[in-house]
Amino acid sequence: MKIVFATNNSHKLAEVSAILGPGWELVTPASLGITEDIPETGDTLEDNALQKARYLYERINGERSDGVTESVVGVPTFADDTGLEVAALGGAPGVRSARYAGDRHDFDDNNRLLLRNLEGAADRSARFRTVIALIIDGREHLFEGRVEGRIVDGYRGTEGFGYDPIFAPAGSTATFAEMPPEEKNAMSHRARAVEKLARFLKINYEL
Ligand code: IMP
Repeated sequence: MKIVFATNNSHKLAEVSAILGPGWELVTPASLGITEDIPETGDTLEDNALQKARYLYERINGERSDGVTESVVGVPTFADDTGLEVAALGGAPGVRSARYAGDRHDFDDNNRLLLRNLEGAADRSARFRTVIALIIDGREHLFEGRVEGRIVDGYRGTEGFGYDPIFAPAGSTATFAEMPPEEKNAMSHRARAVEKLARFLKINYEL
């Protein structure tokens, strides 16, 4: 079963593909010849997920669909947006997680800045939250997944991406980056949101 996923992030693609399982073929914007950046200018994860899903759905099914592979017209389309919400920072970086250290900075810069901003903080609790926006038959649906945990003192592990080396989920001493992908995928924010998406498609559309 085909489903369009509004991402070109290879880490996310691998994670979502492993969670959904072999019955699903994930189609990416790049594979459809859609190479422009998909706008992401909302103030919340919900806004951003909807904005990305709507943009792609329109691009495939609307008037601006020139050059896009015909075979995905009418195929369900979804986008996700994820944020790391740190209690002692009032929920930051949140919706700004990708650009916490500034527009031209990378995962490392974001992690370093976060650790610096948390120096001396007694409360290191944090959560990852993923929101998925799905558009199917012209209707919009939102799904949320979260995982509670804490920010550890330094970098640990090399798996995953983003803030994984500094985040340990509740009940674990290991960070996400110290876990094999299957272990992160069994409990992650993204996994929980994707499982809700898959259940919804199965129950309502027998997909
Ligand atoms: P996005 O907007 O959903 O791509 O996510 C925003 C930022 O959150 C990314 O640039 C990463 O820094 C971070 N992020 C998203 N998902 C994860 C994850 O599963 N682990 C660690 N960091 C993540």
